[in-house]
Order: sequence, then C-alpha cells, then structure tokens
Amino acid sequence: MSLLRTKPLESDRSKDRGLKRVLGAWDLTLLGVGAVIGAGIFVLTGITAATQAGPAVVLSFVVAGFACGCAALSYAELASAVGGCGSAYGYGYASLGELPAWIIGWMLVCEYMVSIPAVATGWSGYVVNSLQALSVHVPEQLIHGPFDKTAPGLINLPAFLVVLVIGILLASGAKLSAQFNAIMVAVKVSAITLFIAVAVFHLNPANWSPFIPPLERVGGSGGAAFSWDMRLLDALKLGLGFGGGGETHFGLVGIMTGAATIFFAYLGFDAVSTAAEETRNPQRDLPIGILGSLFACTALYIVVSALLTGIVNYRELNVPSPVAHAMLAIGQPWVAGTISVGAIAGLTTVILVMYFGLTRVIFAIAHDGLLPGFFAYVHPKTGTPVGSIAATGVLMLAFSGFVPLGRLAELANIGTLGAFVVVCAGVLVMRRTHPELHRPFRTPAAPLIPVLGVLSCGYLMLNLAAFTWAAFAGWMAIGLVIFFAYSRSHSVLASTPG
Ligand code: ALA
Repeated sequence: MSLLRTKPLESDRSKDRGLKRVLGAWDLTLLGVGAVIGAGIFVLTGITAATQAGPAVVLSFVVAGFACGCAALSYAELASAVGGCGSAYGYGYASLGELPAWIIGWMLVCEYMVSIPAVATGWSGYVVNSLQALSVHVPEQLIHGPFDKTAPGLINLPAFLVVLVIGILLASGAKLSAQFNAIMVAVKVSAITLFIAVAVFHLNPANWSPFIPPLERVGGSGGAAFSWDMRLLDALKLGLGFGGGGETHFGLVGIMTGAATIFFAYLGFDAVSTAAEETRNPQRDLPIGILGSLFACTALYIVVSALLTGIVNYRELNVPSPVAHAMLAIGQPWVAGTISVGAIAGLTTVILVMYFGLTRVIFAIAHDGLLPGFFAYVHPKTGTPVGSIAATGVLMLAFSGFVPLGRLAELANIGTLGAFVVVCAGVLVMRRTHPELHRPFRTPAAPLIPVLGVLSCGYLMLNLAAFTWAAFAGWMAIGLVIFFAYSRSHSVLASTPG
C-alpha cells in the first residue's frame, strides 16, 4: 500500500520552501510563449510537411493543439486547486499516490531533460549558419561532439555555452530570468509577425493542392517487415497479423503521425505550472498563464504553417530552417535574416523556460525525499534552487556538448504525452476523491474534456515510432530502479507517522 500513499493536499499549496514569489500573470504567459515557440515551428514544421503530412500539416497542428488544449484545461484546474512547483508530479502525489507521482515526475524530467539539449543543438546550428552568413567561420571541430555520427569533432561549443549561460542566468533569480525571457519573446514574436505580414502577399493557392497528398508507403517491399521507424500502431497491427505496416506518409495517417511529431512544437506550456511557488497569486494567474500561452501559440502555429505551405511547395521544405528558406525562395533575403534572429531568440527562451521547469520539478521531488537533499538546496540570497540547477546542468551540458541525442529527441514527446494522460486522468480522480476541494478554475465540460484529453494524447503516443517506445521503456525502467533503490525508503512520507 505504501506505493500509493498520498501527500496531504495542504502541504504544497501555501508552503514557503524558500523560492521567491515574484511573478505575475503576464510573466507566466510570456514564460509559456517562451517555452513553446521554438524548434517546433522554426525547424520541424517544414520537415513534417515535406515528409509526413504535406500542406495538411495545418491539420496536424490542429490535432496536436486539440490534445494540448484538453491537457491544458486539466492542468489549469489542478494547478489552481493543488498548486506546488512540482506541477503534475505534485498533483499525482496528492491524488494517485507516491509511485504514480514518481512516474509522472520522471516523465516530466524526460520531457525537459531531452528537449533542452535537442533545442540547444538546433540553436547551435542556427547560430553557426548565421555567423557563416556574416563570414565568421566556426571550426568544424567545435560544432560537433565526439559521438556525432555524421562528423565527429571535439565539442558542440555553441550548444554547450548556451546551456551554461542560461544555467547561470537561472541561478541569478527568477525575476531576472523572466525579464530576459520577455525581451527574447518580443524578438521572436516580432519575427513571426514579420513572416506573416510578408507571406500573406506571396501566397500561391496552387501550393495547397493537393491539400492532403495521397498515401505513400516508404522503406521496404510492401511494408510487411517490422522496422524500428514504424509507428507503434502499425507495428502492433503487423504483430497481430492485420498486415499493413511499413512506414507511411501523407493521407490521413500522415496527418496523425505528423501531429505526433509536431506535438514537440507545443511542449513547454506545462512548464508554466512549475512556477506556482514563485507566483504572487497562483490560483488566479496559473490558469491565465497556461491557457493564454497555449491559445496564442496555437493560433500562431496554424497561421504560420498555412502560410508556409502556401508560399512554397511542401516538398521543398525538408530543410533545417524552413521558415527562413521559404523567405529566400520568394526573394526576401532580409526577412530571412530577421527570421533567423527570431529563431535564435526563440530557441533561447525554450531552453530557458524548460530548464526552469526541470529544476522546479526536481526541487519538488527532492523536497519530498525521493531524490537526495542536495537537489532541494535553495540559495538564500537569490531564492533559486541552485542545487537542482547545477546538478541537472552538468548532465545537460554533457548531452549538449558531447552526446547528440539524434532520434532520441522524440522521447520528449512521449514523456510529455504520458504525463498529460495522467494529468487528465488526475482531474477525474480528484473530482471523485476530493469533491469538496476549492477549485478556483474548473475544467469545463468535465468529464468530457479530460476523457478526450486521455484519448487524444494516448492516440498520439501510439503514432510515435517503435524506436521511441523502446527508448521510453528504457527510461522508465531506470526511473523504477531509482525509485525502489532509493526514493521509497528515503521518502519524507515514509518517516511521517500515520
Ligand atoms: N516547444 C518547444 C519547441 O518547439 C520545445 O522548441
């Protein structure tokens, strides 16, 4: 039974654990936009359009946005009612029990710990390209880690440095970090607005035809053999003897696999909820920050992806910087340059806010005794969790500088989707187990919205590759080993009478 022991609800909500309450609703909304708009729109949109969904990548954004919307509404209820900087981990601890909470926390750590080095690598690529455009050449040895399969070097120095500098900024103070974030968000949103303003006048509706290109099968003769790149749904069908299988793209299947890939673009709005203990009026401001940032980003994504596939043919977009590429293709080099600056600013804020979220979740877990106390150390002057900032920083520096994640980057999607499923389920459980709880924000149309959240996020998980699932299983196995070897016996609850 001790695996399902729950933490009293009051324990996190109003507790002062040393973090400084300095953020308001506007800071939170900007943090959300900071965490969300980045590699997804600046890099993945083009690749997804070219290889999976065609112009219907717009629908992939709608599908992924719908799943996120259901999860965000559920998050908003739990964040306003339960609170705590552990976010979904904390909600799980209050409603489902210690082991489920650990599992959710471990999935959130997966989300942040994987996406930060992945985005830092993208950041490095953008910076190196921009420097090259200005005739500044960075030696190859300094832009590839030793384990980079394509071109082994010494270190990915730009990726290493950006994580290091952001770690130092985060340690300096939450308000300072939020102010820096606000400036960078203004830069990236201006770049996107410029793209929209220019693209509108260069639309060629012929590029949207066919809007949903016909289904194509790739990689293999008839697609009957198992491959690790196959989405799990196809692998299961194959295993159960339904035939089919193979990797496919375009058609309705392409829209769904595209949605599972492009889901990466939405990662991060959940990080807003990890600022609960640094927010002046969390019960009011967290729902505003979570829902406001998701709404703004979804609207931008739909408009940008529609315009992108409307100004150039989707087949041309399989490049690392599709938005800038499209501007070059229509003869707008200065806009392309501005967009690169916006992309660098965008990727910077993603790293910043994701890193912020990671350290708060780790801090909360350590505070409960499930990780060593060092991770919960807060600097008395800055009021920031420097223990978790330093410890996670070392790992992320290693991944950013030396060990490229490559295909492992999709682990971030599966970890987040898993956490979203549990958050939506958590709303349903809490409504039953704690009907009396004061809920400043209530998920509308419950239980419908949380149920749709569970189903849509679960379905997107099935559209991820078998390889990603295998890596996820490995990640969760490591988490369970840590839990049973350390966390369970060191839990603060274990020593609490009753
Ligand atoms: N949503 C973030 C991005 O697209 C992770 O970069």
